[in-house]
Amino acid sequence: MLILGIETSCDETAAAVVEDGRRILSSVVASQIDVHHRFGGVVPELASRMHIEAIVPVVQQALAEAGVRTEMLDAVAATQGPGLVGALLVGFSFAKAFAYARRLPLVAMDHLEGHLYSALLGDTPASFPYVALLASGGHTAIYTIEGRGDYQLLGQTRDDAAGEAYDKVAKMLGLGYPGGAVIDDLARQGDAHRIVFTRPYLDKMRFDFSFSGIKTAVLRCISNNSAKWVEQHRADIAAGFQAAVVDVLVYKLLHAAEVKQCRHVAVVGGVAANQGLRDRLARETARRKFALHIPSLRLCGDNAAMIAAAAHHRLTEGQFASLRDDVYSRHPRALS
Ligand code: KG4
Ligand code: ZN
Repeated sequence: MLILGIETSCDETAAAVVEDGRRILSSVVASQIDVHHRFGGVVPELASRMHIEAIVPVVQQALAEAGVRTEMLDAVAATQGPGLVGALLVGFSFAKAFAYARRLPLVAMDHLEGHLYSALLGDTPASFPYVALLASGGHTAIYTIEGRGDYQLLGQTRDDAAGEAYDKVAKMLGLGYPGGAVIDDLARQGDAHRIVFTRPYLDKMRFDFSFSGIKTAVLRCISNNSAKWVEQHRADIAAGFQAAVVDVLVYKLLHAAEVKQCRHVAVVGGVAANQGLRDRLARETARRKFALHIPSLRLCGDNAAMIAAAAHHRLTEGQFASLRDDVYSRHPRALS
């Protein structure tokens, strides 16, 4: 079964062809980062316009790379939300028109469900049930996943998402947008013990997060010291910040796995690309005998392969969208 997936929830125009919910035949991602970089964050209106320009060539490229003609497709799946409404509208409306014109079933996908599903797409896919940390620029939450489409939210951030905190700290340090990968690289050159930030665990028994305090602590550290000092200690600040964030993410994820008695744990979303987090989790999970599943780097950030793959079980269960369905900026149900 061949599904064309389309993802335009934020600043990446993506299309992919996935076979039987597992085999990725193509996955094309056109990033808008260069444009938004100048403004220090995503400008929604610009994002929508760029999606409009990119959507047709990106879909054409995904079909060409997969060696698939449109008449070979079994369905079209597109992200319905959550995300930027104007951005979502481009991909979702394109998918509606494509499905209507080609008489194909349309599957409306949740962006977070797509990320959670990406843990099933690697060489060592997660087994059910698994506990997953979803950490991206818009969300940070922990779920138990009992089966396809069966997600239970255990806790989530009360303020900033982890990726958002990375982006804001990067901005404070003059490192530009987006900041996750830059801080990750810089942290490797710094000493995480030189500048220690308090770990925002909140209640250690619960699975909620809060990252706005640590962001403020970094701001205070920067404004209490001279520009020269900050310049000299940028790598140590990055290392100290990253160590605090990683400590909390790893603690909560593994605690949730213990409580839920799951031996399989996964990390998905843009922040799952973080090398410090990946290294630390590899060590901790080996020591505590958990099986760790982190998608390859190209599947951590936003992509359409996870959307097409996650749509497979919807299609087999006959859960189709209608042309009257609309996008949503926030999730109306339990995923967030
Ligand atoms: O999943 P994603 O591509 O888009 C959203 O759904 O938000 O995640 C983007 C986020 C950004 O905040 C970015 O800074 C962060 O993921 N990110 C990272 C790394 N690479 C991307 N954060 C920490 N370390 C990284 N290596
Ligand atoms: Zn995402």
